[in-house]
Amino acid sequence: MKALQTETKSSNNPRFRWIAFETTMALADNGQDVIQGLSQPQKTLPCRYFYDDHGSELFEQITELPEYYPTRTEQDILAKFAIEIAQFTGACDLIELGSGSSRKTRLLLEAYHQLNHWLYYCPIDVSAGILKATALALLHQYPSLKLCGLAGTYEQALAQLPPREFENRMLIFLGSTLGNLHPLECDRFLAQIQQALQPGDFFLLGVDLQKPVDVIEAAYNDAQGITAQFNLNMLRHLNHRFQANFDLDQFSHLAFYNAIDHQIEMHLCSLKRQTVVLSALNYEVCLSDTETIHTEISRKFHLPTLSQELKQHALYPLHIWTDPNSWFGLWLCQRQCTSGECP
Ligand code: AVJ
Repeated sequence: MKALQTETKSSNNPRFRWIAFETTMALADNGQDVIQGLSQPQKTLPCRYFYDDHGSELFEQITELPEYYPTRTEQDILAKFAIEIAQFTGACDLIELGSGSSRKTRLLLEAYHQLNHWLYYCPIDVSAGILKATALALLHQYPSLKLCGLAGTYEQALAQLPPREFENRMLIFLGSTLGNLHPLECDRFLAQIQQALQPGDFFLLGVDLQKPVDVIEAAYNDAQGITAQFNLNMLRHLNHRFQANFDLDQFSHLAFYNAIDHQIEMHLCSLKRQTVVLSALNYEVCLSDTETIHTEISRKFHLPTLSQELKQHALYPLHIWTDPNSWFGLWLCQRQCTSGECP
């Protein structure tokens, strides 16, 4: 992939670098993925369209809901074991995929700080605005931290990581975002991780685990209806972005657990027969009454199965930390040598 950089800034602060990859907006904006998804027999929309500014705000609210256990549980695990994790790697380059507000990551930064381990933090996110604001706040808060913000997609950033500052490097991917990928996408993604890491590097992965269905379904059908708003907001976002005319009152939120594929599925259910126009895409879509648009999967993992998959990508699980209920897992892996790489 051609990954041009528009902006590589050193700024006045010697602890701050900023790299913005040029194609981010172009990739996001041409909408071919929307047309493609809406043309399938089971209509789908890519889950990344959840995250406009309002959607990101709604997601922040979701993480605080009493029913939504993943964020809280992962946070508790990190709070308890961040020091152990920092001891594993020592001073390192810490590269985070999808950092957002870096809220959970602060627990790690704090642990490195406490142990007096130097850190070069490289958060990657497509939302340049939130990335930069967070970066500046962290630099201010941690006077010994060096930071390189990477504004772009995972693919772009992984293919062009900044040069190493330390011998040890750890890539982190929290929040069970891995669960939004279909098995094949997941496989491709892990292959990219393998590529981006050298033997000896670390990979810290947070994943939501299988558990009683009522607990999972409640997390995606909260009593306050915030998840419903989050789901419906995708249509508002598309209205805005592609001059579409989705009527949000004519769709309802649907989330259920698919026990065969071990995943939550979120849909938007059409409440009547209707036609929607996406003017900017020169595209029209007809929905029948009760027909659904599939907006997200959120897979719930089985540790032994995931362990096999990780090993297939030369990622060897070193240590797993979980909560007392084993609802969520935080997995530290180390990149192994593959046959061609070993001396
Ligand atoms: C941030 C993608 C992991 O799948 O649980 C929350 C997103 N969707 N409620 C998840 C989400 C509905 C969340 N991830």
